[in-house]
Amino acid sequence: MPAKILNLFKKAQRGRWAIGQFNFSNLETLKAIVQAAEKLKSPTIVGTSEGESKFVGLEQAAALVKSYREKTKLPIILNLDHGRSFDYIKKAIDAGYDAVHFDGSGLSLEKNIQETKKVVNYARKHGVLVEGEAGVIGDVGKQKGVLTEPKDALRFVKETKVDSLAVAIGNLHGIEASGINPKLNLKRLKEIKEKIGNIPLVLHGGSGTPEADIKKAIKSGIVKININTELRMAYTNTLKKSFQEKPTEIVSYKYMPLVVEAVQKIVEEKIRLFGSQNKA
Ligand code: G3H
Ligand code: ZN
Repeated sequence: MPAKILNLFKKAQRGRWAIGQFNFSNLETLKAIVQAAEKLKSPTIVGTSEGESKFVGLEQAAALVKSYREKTKLPIILNLDHGRSFDYIKKAIDAGYDAVHFDGSGLSLEKNIQETKKVVNYARKHGVLVEGEAGVIGDVGKQKGVLTEPKDALRFVKETKVDSLAVAIGNLHGIEASGINPKLNLKRLKEIKEKIGNIPLVLHGGSGTPEADIKKAIKSGIVKININTELRMAYTNTLKKSFQEKPTEIVSYKYMPLVVEAVQKIVEEKIRLFGSQNKA
């Protein structure tokens, strides 16, 4: 599997497109993501944060994804997103995740490198891909970001030997009240790329990022883009609307086709924006 994923990243780098990572915490969202990928023949990464995976269950997430992969014959990769401890990441790997992201952004660079190395060491033995993170990605309303320093990024990838690197370039988790997040620092992205070469770069906080910035970021070396908030908004807002429109309906799955449709629409838009259609 890691060779397969790395090949996809290389293909994306050469073709100047990116693979979307879409997060899920329930069957409806996963179904919507898979349907969009199937319709547009796109390779796809599906992600669960620690919290999302605790709700779904690590083994259950792995089993669901395996089942969809077998049914669709598409490259659907399951990634643990923002794993914060070696112990939890180990559990995800043991449960059958294909890839893991270690988020050591709360640690000093030294400690981040040290912990990431532990993750890489365990993941390698199990054929699992590792995404590392240098710098601090901001969170709307919670945490200010700290841009990735190109020299730190170089040291980080050299010492940890991660397969891909998440960068902080003004990207934000969540969406600003205006609906649009501030511009990406594309100059910094180019400086990082120049310094570290061909390591696949990952953009977190894709929701709300202006389309023009996404396109420029892909041209400057981003090959994986994470989307979560926009899917959560589509899901929740559509479900709330359905409750209002059918106040007496008690058959819960009957609320869901509209929800799946709304989430699928966003995923399709992102796949087209990232240029990953017909690349499976
Ligand atoms: O790791 C997940 C992503 O970075 C999601 O960011 O919620 O802003 O789309 P987002
Ligand atoms: Zn993220």
